[in-house]
Amino acid sequence: MTVRMKGKSIDSLSNLNQKEIKEILKTSTLLKSQLARGEEHLLLKGKTLAMIFEKPSTRTRVSFEVGMWQLGGVALYLSAGDLQLGRGETIADTARTLSRYVHGIMARVFAHQTILDLIKYSTVPVINGLSDFTHPCQGLADLFTIYEKKGRLSGLTLAYVGDGNNVAHSLIYGCSKVGMDITLACPKGYEPNLEVIIEAKEEGKRTGSHVKVTNDPIEAVRNADIVYTDVWASMGKEKEYEKRSKIFKPYQINTTLVRKAKEDYLFMHCLPAHRGQEVTDEVADSKNSVIFDQAENRLHTQKALLSLIM
Ligand code: CP
Ligand code: NVA
Repeated sequence: MTVRMKGKSIDSLSNLNQKEIKEILKTSTLLKSQLARGEEHLLLKGKTLAMIFEKPSTRTRVSFEVGMWQLGGVALYLSAGDLQLGRGETIADTARTLSRYVHGIMARVFAHQTILDLIKYSTVPVINGLSDFTHPCQGLADLFTIYEKKGRLSGLTLAYVGDGNNVAHSLIYGCSKVGMDITLACPKGYEPNLEVIIEAKEEGKRTGSHVKVTNDPIEAVRNADIVYTDVWASMGKEKEYEKRSKIFKPYQINTTLVRKAKEDYLFMHCLPAHRGQEVTDEVADSKNSVIFDQAENRLHTQKALLSLIM
Protein backbone atom coordinates (compact mmCIF):
# COMPACT_ATOMS: atom_id res chain seq x y z
CA MET A 1 0.00 0.00 0.00
CA THR A 2 1.32 3.47 -0.82
CA VAL A 3 1.99 5.78 2.09
CA ARG A 4 0.13 9.10 1.75
CA MET A 5 2.14 12.07 2.93
CA LYS A 6 0.80 14.94 0.79
CA GLY A 7 0.53 18.16 2.78
CA LYS A 8 2.57 16.84 5.69
CA SER A 9 5.00 19.20 7.50
CA ILE A 10 8.25 17.90 9.02
CA ASP A 11 9.54 19.67 12.10
CA SER A 12 11.39 16.62 13.42
CA LEU A 13 11.87 12.90 12.61
CA SER A 14 9.59 12.37 15.56
CA ASN A 15 6.76 13.41 13.14
CA LEU A 16 7.42 10.47 10.85
CA ASN A 17 6.44 6.87 11.46
CA GLN A 18 8.49 3.87 10.39
CA LYS A 19 6.44 3.33 7.20
CA GLU A 20 6.91 6.94 6.16
CA ILE A 21 10.67 6.77 6.74
CA LYS A 22 10.84 3.56 4.66
CA GLU A 23 8.83 5.24 1.89
CA ILE A 24 11.24 8.20 1.85
CA LEU A 25 14.26 5.86 1.68
CA LYS A 26 12.66 3.78 -1.09
CA THR A 27 11.81 6.91 -3.10
CA SER A 28 15.36 8.21 -2.54
CA THR A 29 16.81 5.03 -4.10
CA LEU A 30 14.50 5.40 -7.10
CA LEU A 31 15.24 9.09 -7.67
CA LYS A 32 18.98 8.58 -7.20
CA SER A 33 19.04 5.83 -9.82
CA GLN A 34 16.88 7.84 -12.23
CA LEU A 35 19.28 10.77 -11.91
CA ALA A 36 22.29 8.49 -12.48
CA ARG A 37 20.67 7.11 -15.66
CA GLY A 38 19.86 10.63 -16.86
CA GLU A 39 16.10 9.97 -16.78
CA GLU A 40 13.78 12.93 -16.25
CA HIS A 41 11.72 12.81 -13.06
CA LEU A 42 9.68 16.03 -13.14
CA LEU A 43 7.47 15.16 -10.17
CA LEU A 44 7.08 18.80 -9.06
CA LYS A 45 6.65 20.51 -12.43
CA GLY A 46 5.50 24.11 -11.92
CA LYS A 47 5.82 23.95 -8.13
CA THR A 48 7.71 26.45 -5.99
CA LEU A 49 9.54 26.13 -2.68
CA ALA A 50 10.35 29.15 -0.48
CA MET A 51 13.57 28.69 1.50
CA ILE A 52 13.99 30.97 4.54
CA PHE A 53 17.50 31.16 6.01
CA GLU A 54 18.29 32.74 9.39
CA LYS A 55 21.71 31.01 9.37
CA PRO A 56 24.36 30.24 6.72
CA SER A 57 24.32 27.03 4.69
CA THR A 58 26.16 25.27 1.88
CA ARG A 59 24.62 21.79 1.68
CA THR A 60 21.04 22.57 2.63
CA ARG A 61 20.72 25.55 0.33
CA VAL A 62 22.35 23.96 -2.70
CA SER A 63 20.75 20.52 -2.35
CA PHE A 64 17.23 21.95 -1.97
CA GLU A 65 17.72 24.40 -4.83
CA VAL A 66 19.21 21.83 -7.21
CA GLY A 67 16.71 19.22 -6.05
CA MET A 68 13.69 21.41 -6.83
CA TRP A 69 15.15 22.20 -10.25
CA GLN A 70 15.71 18.49 -11.03
CA LEU A 71 12.09 17.82 -10.05
CA GLY A 72 10.86 20.46 -12.51
CA GLY A 73 10.13 23.14 -9.92
CA VAL A 74 11.79 26.26 -8.59
CA ALA A 75 13.28 27.19 -5.19
CA LEU A 76 13.54 30.77 -3.88
CA TYR A 77 16.38 31.67 -1.52
CA LEU A 78 15.07 34.13 1.08
CA SER A 79 17.51 35.48 3.62
CA ALA A 80 15.52 36.22 6.79
CA GLY A 81 17.30 39.58 7.11
CA ASP A 82 16.10 40.65 3.67
CA LEU A 83 12.48 39.68 4.27
CA GLN A 84 10.12 42.02 6.15
CA LEU A 85 10.63 39.53 9.01
CA GLY A 86 13.83 41.47 9.67
CA ARG A 87 11.72 44.62 10.21
CA GLY A 88 9.26 43.01 12.56
CA GLU A 89 6.61 41.33 10.37
CA THR A 90 5.44 38.31 12.32
CA ILE A 91 6.19 34.69 11.47
CA ALA A 92 2.43 34.13 11.31
CA ASP A 93 1.90 36.83 8.66
CA THR A 94 5.00 35.70 6.76
CA ALA A 95 3.66 32.12 6.71
CA ARG A 96 0.19 33.26 5.59
CA THR A 97 1.65 35.44 2.84
CA LEU A 98 4.14 32.89 1.48
CA SER A 99 1.37 30.28 1.41
CA ARG A 100 -0.40 32.40 -1.24
CA TYR A 101 2.62 32.19 -3.56
CA VAL A 102 4.41 28.88 -3.03
CA HIS A 103 3.64 25.17 -2.64
CA GLY A 104 6.06 24.53 0.23
CA ILE A 105 8.33 26.27 2.72
CA MET A 106 11.73 25.13 3.99
CA ALA A 107 13.28 27.11 6.84
CA ARG A 108 16.62 27.12 8.68
CA VAL A 109 16.15 28.92 11.98
CA PHE A 110 17.50 29.52 15.46
CA ALA A 111 14.45 28.84 17.68
CA HIS A 112 12.57 25.61 16.97
CA GLN A 113 9.39 27.50 17.88
CA THR A 114 9.80 29.44 14.61
CA ILE A 115 9.35 26.16 12.69
CA LEU A 116 6.32 25.27 14.80
CA ASP A 117 4.80 28.72 14.15
CA LEU A 118 5.44 28.44 10.41
CA ILE A 119 3.65 25.08 10.45
CA LYS A 120 0.76 26.52 12.47
CA TYR A 121 0.09 29.48 10.17
CA SER A 122 1.02 28.05 6.73
CA THR A 123 -1.47 26.35 4.48
CA VAL A 124 1.38 24.60 2.64
CA PRO A 125 3.82 21.96 4.01
CA VAL A 126 6.82 23.21 5.99
CA ILE A 127 10.21 21.46 6.28
CA ASN A 128 12.70 22.12 9.05
CA GLY A 129 16.06 22.72 7.35
CA LEU A 130 17.76 22.88 10.80
CA SER A 131 16.72 24.51 14.05
CA ASP A 132 18.62 24.74 17.32
CA PHE A 133 16.69 21.65 18.40
CA THR A 134 16.88 19.28 15.46
CA HIS A 135 17.96 18.66 11.83
CA PRO A 136 15.57 16.08 10.34
CA CYS A 137 16.75 16.40 6.71
CA GLN A 138 20.26 15.50 7.86
CA GLY A 139 18.84 12.53 9.78
CA LEU A 140 17.12 11.19 6.65
CA ALA A 141 20.29 11.50 4.56
CA ASP A 142 22.24 9.76 7.33
CA LEU A 143 19.84 6.80 7.50
CA PHE A 144 19.87 6.50 3.70
CA THR A 145 23.69 6.56 3.61
CA ILE A 146 23.96 3.87 6.28
CA TYR A 147 21.40 1.74 4.45
CA GLU A 148 23.32 2.08 1.17
CA LYS A 149 26.64 1.14 2.79
CA LYS A 150 25.51 -1.57 5.20
CA GLY A 151 22.42 -2.95 3.43
CA ARG A 152 20.36 -2.71 6.62
CA LEU A 153 19.54 -0.38 9.49
CA SER A 154 18.13 -2.45 12.31
CA GLY A 155 20.65 -4.27 14.45
CA LEU A 156 23.49 -1.80 13.79
CA THR A 157 25.10 0.36 16.49
CA LEU A 158 25.87 4.03 16.00
CA ALA A 159 28.25 5.88 18.32
CA TYR A 160 27.75 9.64 18.41
CA VAL A 161 30.63 11.45 20.10
CA GLY A 162 30.49 15.16 20.92
CA ASP A 163 27.83 17.79 21.55
CA GLY A 164 24.28 16.60 22.32
CA ASN A 165 22.96 19.05 19.73
CA ASN A 166 20.41 19.30 16.90
CA VAL A 167 22.19 16.64 14.80
CA ALA A 168 22.42 14.32 17.82
CA HIS A 169 18.67 14.72 18.38
CA SER A 170 17.87 13.82 14.76
CA LEU A 171 20.05 10.73 15.02
CA ILE A 172 18.39 9.66 18.26
CA TYR A 173 14.92 9.99 16.72
CA GLY A 174 16.05 8.37 13.46
CA CYS A 175 17.77 5.37 15.07
CA SER A 176 14.84 4.75 17.41
CA LYS A 177 12.43 4.63 14.44
CA VAL A 178 14.42 2.07 12.45
CA GLY A 179 15.62 -0.28 15.19
CA MET A 180 19.23 0.91 15.31
CA ASP A 181 21.11 1.19 18.62
CA ILE A 182 22.67 4.54 19.45
CA THR A 183 25.16 5.38 22.18
CA LEU A 184 26.06 9.03 22.70
CA ALA A 185 29.24 10.12 24.47
CA CYS A 186 29.01 13.77 25.50
CA PRO A 187 30.81 15.83 28.14
CA LYS A 188 28.88 16.46 31.36
CA GLY A 189 26.40 19.29 30.80
CA TYR A 190 26.35 18.77 27.01
CA GLU A 191 24.18 15.67 26.89
CA PRO A 192 21.14 15.54 24.57
CA ASN A 193 17.71 16.72 25.67
CA LEU A 194 16.20 14.30 28.18
CA GLU A 195 12.74 14.42 26.58
CA VAL A 196 14.22 13.24 23.28
CA ILE A 197 15.87 10.30 25.07
CA ILE A 198 12.64 9.38 26.86
CA GLU A 199 10.64 9.51 23.59
CA ALA A 200 13.27 7.44 21.77
CA LYS A 201 13.31 4.83 24.53
CA GLU A 202 9.51 4.48 24.22
CA GLU A 203 9.81 4.11 20.43
CA GLY A 204 12.67 1.64 20.92
CA LYS A 205 10.33 -0.72 22.80
CA ARG A 206 8.45 -1.17 19.51
CA THR A 207 11.43 -1.23 17.13
CA GLY A 208 14.13 -2.95 19.21
CA SER A 209 16.40 0.11 19.33
CA HIS A 210 18.37 1.01 22.47
CA VAL A 211 19.52 4.50 23.41
CA LYS A 212 22.34 5.10 25.84
CA VAL A 213 24.13 8.25 27.01
CA THR A 214 27.58 8.19 28.56
CA ASN A 215 30.44 10.61 29.21
CA ASP A 216 33.01 8.06 28.00
CA PRO A 217 33.90 8.17 24.27
CA ILE A 218 35.71 4.81 24.39
CA GLU A 219 32.64 3.10 25.82
CA ALA A 220 30.49 4.54 23.02
CA VAL A 221 32.85 3.70 20.16
CA ARG A 222 33.74 0.16 21.31
CA ASN A 223 32.44 -2.25 18.63
CA ALA A 224 30.36 0.42 16.89
CA ASP A 225 29.31 0.05 13.23
CA ILE A 226 29.15 3.81 12.76
CA VAL A 227 31.15 6.58 14.43
CA TYR A 228 29.52 10.01 14.07
CA THR A 229 30.55 13.46 15.22
CA ASP A 230 29.61 17.10 14.67
CA VAL A 231 31.15 20.49 15.48
CA TRP A 232 31.75 21.38 19.12
CA ALA A 233 30.13 24.82 18.77
CA SER A 234 27.03 24.96 16.56
CA MET A 235 25.82 28.05 14.69
CA GLY A 236 24.81 30.62 17.29
CA LYS A 237 27.24 29.24 19.92
CA GLU A 238 30.39 30.77 18.43
CA LYS A 239 31.03 32.83 21.57
CA GLU A 240 31.45 29.62 23.59
CA TYR A 241 34.02 28.32 21.15
CA GLU A 242 37.14 28.61 23.34
CA LYS A 243 35.50 27.22 26.44
CA ARG A 244 34.02 24.33 24.46
CA SER A 245 37.33 23.54 22.72
CA LYS A 246 38.87 22.66 26.08
CA ILE A 247 35.88 20.68 27.35
CA PHE A 248 35.45 18.68 24.15
CA LYS A 249 39.11 17.87 23.50
CA PRO A 250 38.91 14.30 24.91
CA TYR A 251 36.00 13.70 22.51
CA GLN A 252 38.02 14.14 19.31
CA ILE A 253 37.59 11.38 16.73
CA ASN A 254 41.13 10.27 15.91
CA THR A 255 42.86 7.05 14.88
CA THR A 256 43.37 5.93 18.48
CA LEU A 257 39.66 6.21 19.24
CA VAL A 258 38.35 4.61 16.04
CA ARG A 259 40.57 1.55 16.63
CA LYS A 260 37.92 0.57 19.21
CA ALA A 261 35.18 0.48 16.55
CA LYS A 262 34.49 -2.46 14.21
CA GLU A 263 37.06 -2.76 11.43
CA ASP A 264 34.51 -1.88 8.73
CA TYR A 265 33.03 1.02 10.72
CA LEU A 266 31.68 4.07 8.86
CA PHE A 267 32.87 7.52 9.84
CA MET A 268 30.09 10.10 9.49
CA HIS A 269 29.83 13.86 9.95
CA CYS A 270 27.00 16.14 8.83
CA LEU A 271 29.57 18.77 7.73
CA PRO A 272 30.86 21.46 7.84
CA ALA A 273 33.76 19.87 9.76
CA HIS A 274 36.32 21.68 11.84
CA ARG A 275 39.24 19.46 10.91
CA GLY A 276 41.82 19.07 13.65
CA GLN A 277 39.15 19.67 16.29
CA GLU A 278 36.24 17.21 16.47
CA VAL A 279 37.90 15.00 13.83
CA THR A 280 41.43 14.57 12.48
CA ASP A 281 42.18 14.65 8.74
CA GLU A 282 43.36 11.05 9.01
CA VAL A 283 39.88 9.85 10.01
CA ALA A 284 37.88 12.28 7.85
CA ASP A 285 39.85 11.24 4.74
CA SER A 286 40.14 7.52 5.58
CA LYS A 287 38.59 4.71 3.55
CA ASN A 288 35.96 4.35 6.29
CA SER A 289 34.76 7.92 5.85
CA VAL A 290 31.45 8.44 3.99
CA ILE A 291 31.07 12.16 4.69
CA PHE A 292 30.68 13.22 1.07
CA ASP A 293 28.22 10.41 0.33
CA GLN A 294 26.20 11.80 3.22
CA ALA A 295 26.39 15.29 1.72
CA GLU A 296 25.33 13.96 -1.70
CA ASN A 297 22.47 12.01 -0.18
CA ARG A 298 20.96 15.22 1.20
CA LEU A 299 19.96 15.85 -2.42
CA HIS A 300 18.30 12.48 -3.03
CA THR A 301 16.48 12.18 0.31
CA GLN A 302 15.18 15.76 0.20
CA LYS A 303 13.92 15.26 -3.36
CA ALA A 304 12.11 12.17 -2.11
CA LEU A 305 10.62 14.11 0.80
CA LEU A 306 9.59 17.06 -1.39
CA SER A 307 7.97 14.79 -4.00
CA LEU A 308 6.00 12.96 -1.30
CA ILE A 309 4.71 15.97 0.65
CA MET A 310 4.28 18.72 -1.98
N1 CP B 1 24.87 19.60 7.04
C1 CP B 1 24.34 20.80 6.71
O1 CP B 1 23.17 21.09 6.97
O2 CP B 1 25.19 21.64 6.05
P1 CP B 1 24.95 23.17 5.71
O3 CP B 1 25.02 23.93 7.00
O4 CP B 1 26.05 23.50 4.76
O5 CP B 1 23.58 23.32 5.08
N1 NVA C 1 25.19 21.33 14.76
C1 NVA C 1 25.55 22.12 13.60
C2 NVA C 1 25.07 21.48 12.35
C3 NVA C 1 25.39 22.22 11.08
C4 NVA C 1 24.83 21.55 9.87
C5 NVA C 1 25.00 23.53 13.75
O1 NVA C 1 23.85 23.66 14.17
O2 NVA C 1 25.71 24.48 13.47
